[in-house]
Amino acid sequence: MTEKILILDFGSQYTQLIARAVREANVYCEITPYHKEVKYEEGLKGIILSGSPFSVNEDKAPTVDVKSMADKLPVLGVCYGAQLTAKLFGGRVDKSAKREYGRAILQLQKEDALLQNISTTSQVWMSHSDTIKELPAGFELLGTTDSIPVAAFMRNSEQGNPLYGLQFHPEVYHSAEGKKIIRNFLVNICGCHQDWTPAHFITETVEALKQQIGDKKVIMALSGGVDSTVAATLINKAIGKNLFGIFVDNGVLRKNEFGQVLETYKHLGLNVKGVDAKEHFYNKLKWKTDPEEKRKIIGGGFIEIFDEEAKQLTGIEMLGQGTIYPDVIESVSVHGPSVTIKSHHNVGGLPEKMKLGLVEPLRYLFKDEVRRVGLELGIPPDLIFRHPFPGPGLAIRILGEITEEKVRLLQDADDIYINGLKKANLYSEVWQAGTILLPVKSVGVMGDERTYEYTVALRAVTSVDGMTADWAHLPYDFLADISNEIINNVRGINRVVYDISSKPPATIEWE
Ligand code: XMP
Repeated sequence: MTEKILILDFGSQYTQLIARAVREANVYCEITPYHKEVKYEEGLKGIILSGSPFSVNEDKAPTVDVKSMADKLPVLGVCYGAQLTAKLFGGRVDKSAKREYGRAILQLQKEDALLQNISTTSQVWMSHSDTIKELPAGFELLGTTDSIPVAAFMRNSEQGNPLYGLQFHPEVYHSAEGKKIIRNFLVNICGCHQDWTPAHFITETVEALKQQIGDKKVIMALSGGVDSTVAATLINKAIGKNLFGIFVDNGVLRKNEFGQVLETYKHLGLNVKGVDAKEHFYNKLKWKTDPEEKRKIIGGGFIEIFDEEAKQLTGIEMLGQGTIYPDVIESVSVHGPSVTIKSHHNVGGLPEKMKLGLVEPLRYLFKDEVRRVGLELGIPPDLIFRHPFPGPGLAIRILGEITEEKVRLLQDADDIYINGLKKANLYSEVWQAGTILLPVKSVGVMGDERTYEYTVALRAVTSVDGMTADWAHLPYDFLADISNEIINNVRGINRVVYDISSKPPATIEWE
């Protein structure tokens, strides 16, 4: 029986961080929109109420029945969750005289189980415009800050199950002892055993996959990326040769990637067929210059090839996918209680068309957890810690028309750059790196000869999720070496530039 914590989402930008902090403590949790009915199933050990952009005093403020929840389980309210709790039990919440954002010092009033081993003064992170002015009757103050009277509180133990509120955000990095506080809630208060480890996940998932799939056959597209590889390895553990993996060479992969990735799959014991479809894609991409059209051609071409391969197999009933948790979390819209569900199809449109049941073993994992599971499964770290690589591959890094010759040039330059980053121990310092072939030629001189050749741009960014990014400040000496190596070794390129644009206003990819 997996122990579980439920996080009710009121639309805070930090809700996912709460989930990650709980998972980091090796306790399984799920995020659910606040208005969904809570199922009190066996194994549910506690509830966390998230923050929210709303004020509890607004007419349309989202609310839940905290009293009945706290009758059944321990509850922790964070920020809005704490204000809602205070208000529902008869306390007073008012607009703050001054909005409070950022650093504050929590001064402990009482060291309860929630704040066990927390320093008497501890840095915490605030983000609120309402303040709890008075606690409800039967509640006790646990902590204050210089600017607010109530920073942490609890309901007296004789009133029922533990019920806590924190005005600050323990889940964010800048709350120095926040992780400890969350761990205290999970262990001291909810009695969780912290046994949700990668090994535990693997055993449980493989068992569940055996039940779900039985003796059916599963087809799956692999991309060489982390998610599809980890998902396939799990499915393989459950059903072995009944998993039919397809890895397509679309002609715009990185240099030697097709062969290397197939080799890794072989080592992992996966039943994967490599399909060389380079010509198919080059023919379709001929004369095409519009980035969106290129994307559609690669996506559509992939479905055609995958379909063709599927037809050659008989009795396929299921489709494996590497979908991960951020793709499926139902997020609460801050503009009202409507719910938007982000849908994500790794192989756009395939499941509906082929009428296959879905197998998604990573559906409840965050990216860093997928990596931990992957390492536990024995997948090489090189693959696990690869930078993200776009589905349309080098096609959107060759600006303008794509030819085989241009692909070869870019692959060679990119290979020098990426290997250089690895050798200089810079690869893991950047979030994503790549090389872009520009559609301009310029004059150069090599020996006594005048050259008229292409330019490549090197791109390296730091980021957390790709939504925003800054250009990586790579050392000049490193850039000088890479520039020399590319120009001296890749005939057809005589100029190298470095992209120093952040996102926004630029994007990571050039197309
Ligand atoms: P941008 O260029 O939008 O990229 O800043 C953000 C992240 O998304 C990747 N990317 C793609 N990935 N198909 C993908 O699978 C695409 O069409 C695509 N376009 C951009 C990009 O590599 C970066 O990680």
